[in-house]
Amino acid sequence: MLRTVTLLGATGSIGRSTREVVAENPDRLRIAAVVAGRDAAALARIAVETGASFAALADEQAGPALAEALAGSGIACGAGRSAVLEAVSRESDIVVSAISGAAGLEATFAALTPGRVVALANKESLVCAGAAVMARAKAVGARILPLDSEHNALHQVLGAEPIEAIRSMTLTASGGPFRTWSAERIAAARPEQALAHPNYAMGAKITIDSASMMNKGLELIEACFLFGLAPAQLEVLVHPQQIVHGLVTFRDGSVSAGMALPDMRVAAAHCLGIDGRLDAPPARFLDLAMSAPLSFERPDLVRFPALGLAIAALAAGGAMPAILNAANEVAVAAFLEGRIGFAGIAGLVEAVCAGPGAGLSAAPDVAAALAIDHEARNRARELLSRAPFAVT
Ligand SMILES: NC(=O)c1ccc[n+]([C@@H]2O[C@H](COP(=O)([O-])OP(=O)(O)OC[C@H]3O[C@@H](n4cnc5c(N)ncnc54)[C@H](OP(=O)(O)O)[C@@H]3O)[C@@H](O)[C@H]2O)c1
Repeated sequence: MLRTVTLLGATGSIGRSTREVVAENPDRLRIAAVVAGRDAAALARIAVETGASFAALADEQAGPALAEALAGSGIACGAGRSAVLEAVSRESDIVVSAISGAAGLEATFAALTPGRVVALANKESLVCAGAAVMARAKAVGARILPLDSEHNALHQVLGAEPIEAIRSMTLTASGGPFRTWSAERIAAARPEQALAHPNYAMGAKITIDSASMMNKGLELIEACFLFGLAPAQLEVLVHPQQIVHGLVTFRDGSVSAGMALPDMRVAAAHCLGIDGRLDAPPARFLDLAMSAPLSFERPDLVRFPALGLAIAALAAGGAMPAILNAANEVAVAAFLEGRIGFAGIAGLVEAVCAGPGAGLSAAPDVAAALAIDHEARNRARELLSRAPFAVT
């Protein structure tokens, strides 16, 4: 059966992985609509290549450039919030949610319609509004499949086991480029060093989050909502080879591991194979005899304080994960612009999380989540303009 896919974040790293899997399976999958932020030339090229019938950019200013690039192609297009929501509302069996950051929340939420599969890479949707997103999926009868590799592995390992069968879940982390660095060296890291991820070529925001290990913290929060576990049931192990993506420890002491090569096309293929598994090309198969010895270590929360902040936000609950996420997005952007040093990322997040917001309830819907996000961003920007988060 031919299944149709709406691809949110089509020009990004997950967008590319998804397009490759779709192209490998032309008899099973077809892209119906593509969405990106502002890169009109890239989106137009992708729309033509994939045979999409609709293309949307979030940035209204980029609309004319997209229309010009698609003139004569027969592909309809639009720009701005309403165009993104139109793309999501067009018929498709699967929506791949791979916009980066909290900017992906509204479209992810709108994608949850009866019978649909939402392949969720945009972890920030669950961090900002986990309860509301999961409740919406349940209420309308949409299925969320995790595309994040750790959660995808855990989802597959879990299979039909009830949540009561689980004692704990472990998410693995590569440890990023600074795994073996001293705290002083990490604090002085430059953007190009933080952008050099050892295993994955990803978007800039998630790559910086991997270097600070905030990414693993966001993933813990994501897992909590996705699987309905208590925060104390989730842990992180640093595993530099990135072969084991997740471990489920059952109540009887059995441990099952989800393994694959560190290649996002594997998780994407699992999410897209909704009528049965897709065939992968030979290079995507794991040969354990050929892999480096697998090693595991506990994360160091002193050298990677961002992970500790995320764990604390998860424990605090309410609006705190959304506040943490907003502050982190502002801090990562400031680091990439050279306005703060690497240590300033966790410093700014900590300062925002310590401000007003503690005790605020979790957002019951998208509008409330966006309001919390907006407020926390404003606070982060205000602190940035006056606090000593100077480049080190
Ligand atoms: N990359 C990975 O291996 C990986 C693994 C697990 C989870 N994830 C998650 O997947 C998501 C995407 O990550 P990525 O690495 O693919 O990021 P990326 O390479 O930076 O791509 C981001 C995509 O989002 C689009 N975008 C940005 N702002 C937008 C907006 N306001 N509205 C609509 N589209 C917008 C970008 O379009 P433009 O190009 O036009 O700006 C681009 O298509 C993140 O939530 C990340 O945490 C990624």
